[in-house]
Amino acid sequence: MASRINLFRGWPNPSLLPVKDLATASATALSTPSIYNDGLQYGPDEGYHPLRQHVAEWLTSFYQPQDPISEDRICITGGASQNLAGILQVFTDPAFTRTIWMVTPTYYLACRIFDDAGFAGRLRGIPEDEEGVDLDFLQRELAKLETEAVEAVAEESFLRQYKPWRPWRKLYKFIIYATPTFANPSMKIMSLRRREGLVRLARRYDALIITDDVYDFLQWSSAPDAALAHPDRASVVRLVDVDRYLDDGPAHEWGNTVSNGSFSKVIGPGLRTGWTESTAKFAYGLSQLGSSRSGGAPSQISATFVDQMISSSALRNHIMNVLQPAYCARYHSVLSAIREDLLPLGFSLPPNSHEVAGGYFIWLRLPQPLQASDLARRAMEEENLQIAAGPLFVVQGDPIRMCENFEEYVRLSFAWEDPKNLTEGVRRLANAVRRAIRQD
Ligand SMILES: Cc1ncc(COP(=O)(O)O)c(C=O)c1O
Repeated sequence: MASRINLFRGWPNPSLLPVKDLATASATALSTPSIYNDGLQYGPDEGYHPLRQHVAEWLTSFYQPQDPISEDRICITGGASQNLAGILQVFTDPAFTRTIWMVTPTYYLACRIFDDAGFAGRLRGIPEDEEGVDLDFLQRELAKLETEAVEAVAEESFLRQYKPWRPWRKLYKFIIYATPTFANPSMKIMSLRRREGLVRLARRYDALIITDDVYDFLQWSSAPDAALAHPDRASVVRLVDVDRYLDDGPAHEWGNTVSNGSFSKVIGPGLRTGWTESTAKFAYGLSQLGSSRSGGAPSQISATFVDQMISSSALRNHIMNVLQPAYCARYHSVLSAIREDLLPLGFSLPPNSHEVAGGYFIWLRLPQPLQASDLARRAMEEENLQIAAGPLFVVQGDPIRMCENFEEYVRLSFAWEDPKNLTEGVRRLANAVRRAIRQD
């Protein structure tokens, strides 16, 4: 059998890792006493100070908010996954926080993190349409829950909170989890008016919006023969910036949004290093997480390497000169293979009215009556091709199941395989589909 092609894996191809830049950055950090003496010690709760400063400048230049981002809005983290757990530890209590709302299809690995924080059985999906999150659905469900909560108080059936009151802790009643730009897996970009509506809902219902803004820098033109006018500037306003300015600014000093950023996609996942941006009050609260109080923010030595990469412009150059062109070429070559081999079989691509595309994935709709789970199994058995079937991205344990089960979709990653295997993978998928159609 031909060798395995993996279009499931959401990892960067090894050729896209900036090994030389990291070698230079780490050599500088480890040969400079003023850097390694801090880097190899316990560090500050908020994270390595020079990196907070440089991340604030770097984000200011990319997102161009109305005012510069100050370092007191930034915490250094162990990446988006570690930090999602950290946010939940400080800002939720399973006896107070009622529901976790996840824009669906969702990044499936987040479900376990919510389960671990005590929310198993309380994860709910919010459907997406072309503009992103379905606000009418969310508003209806939040209003229903509020009525139920009033009744529960009347019956004195509230549990006692597990977590003690602390001046740095605010417990939120709801969590809303989303990847608003280049979503994994749907590739969608939430529109600005939905972003604004979501922030207004969050303020009204005491919800914290956690956004995984992990793909924002991986952007390029959605037209193969055009270039973005400003590849070094974000094309959409982050939710954390919406909350910073909308209707005269945050509802209170904690705010209702936190941006969860990561160096996994722009340097390498093995660094396990990221950042958050939020109000300064929220950032301080996050830094008071018990495990950060005991020894400082995670990834202290990695933070010194990343800091070297930012301050020397190596990171900017890697994103602009290596990652954006490489992912752009991969994306367009997979799309043209899909147009050639899969669209004639009845597949369809999500409509994209944006000038910009980005991220790691393509979300494809199958011709009916094909089922994604069956097709993924066939692709593996018959073609040695690994793909992700849509049902993987449902919200686990959601009893409402207002969202679809996504049996009509598959996700293809264009980040991991070598370019020639990307088009070969699409060809193998077409073979599996032809066989499946013949046998149905
Ligand atoms: C939406 C989303 N969030 C988080 C992660 C993981 O981020 P990190 O490596 O920083 O934990 C990924 C990686 O695939 C992702 O797609």
